[in-house]
Amino acid sequence: MKILKTPKEAQEYRNSLKGNIGFVPTMGALHEGHLSLIKKAREENDYVIVSIFVNPTQFLPGEDLDKYPRKLQADFEICKRAGVDAVFTPNAKNMYSDDEILIKAPKIKGYILEGFFRPGHFDGVLQVVNKLFNIIKPTKAYFGKKDAQQLYLINQMVKNFFFDIEIIPVDTVREKDGLALSSRNVYLSTEERKRALSISKALKRAAKLSSKTDNIEEIKKEMEKILDVDKLQYIAFVDRDFNYINKIIPGNTIILIAAYIGSTRLIDNIWI
Ligand code: PAJ
Repeated sequence: MKILKTPKEAQEYRNSLKGNIGFVPTMGALHEGHLSLIKKAREENDYVIVSIFVNPTQFLPGEDLDKYPRKLQADFEICKRAGVDAVFTPNAKNMYSDDEILIKAPKIKGYILEGFFRPGHFDGVLQVVNKLFNIIKPTKAYFGKKDAQQLYLINQMVKNFFFDIEIIPVDTVREKDGLALSSRNVYLSTEERKRALSISKALKRAAKLSSKTDNIEEIKKEMEKILDVDKLQYIAFVDRDFNYINKIIPGNTIILIAAYIGSTRLIDNIWI
């Protein structure tokens, strides 16, 4: 497995390849969720490239950039075992220059929900994914439904900027008890992890209820009864294009939650 450290190395490697390239962008601390993206990419392509880069521009001041888990050697092992051909691990100096051209997330869909509570977060995500796409020039790129708004915005960027890349959405991988896997779960104490479970439980309950009623207020009330979080930021109901909806549309609804458990911010969602 090749380790590519600079954009130039990655571009040279990329340009030496013939065939389909599956790309999985990550920030590392790889878990089974990332692995399911990698496995899917492995099945569908001649080559698989994974990037591991804790992208500073998508963290807001005061967020967890400095303490974000970094486990590069373990990540390399995971990638090697999963049959990854190359891992691209650039550093911020190689990826960014001073006074660069900036990409702005769309004014509405980039600034509601996650974009409202983390203003500018998606500007940074789109900035780095744009760079990564230009370096790797993948045939297909894999993104988790766990970050539903990110997935939506990446699809929009591909359309708006005419990237010739197919975006493949991948289902959320959960622990046996329902907790969505996240690199940030390591921050949770045993007691907090128990309460974090209330998020996936509320979503599961919402999914069940939505087969009986399309009344969002009713469903939301039930979810609030189940949730045992320290600060609820939002329970939201949108369609697959992130338009707010006022009743459940079967086959075209995403229910999303963002909440703090202690000082850890968690997001999760369910597709109806
Ligand atoms: P990161 O949080 O490392 O996630 C990398 C990819 O793994 C994303 O597409 C995310 O949706 C997916 N993922 C995370 N948890 C998952 C789970 N439980 N099940 C399935 N997929 C899961 O998302 C980012 O990094 C960054 O914003 C990035 C796109 C790399 C840009 O910096």
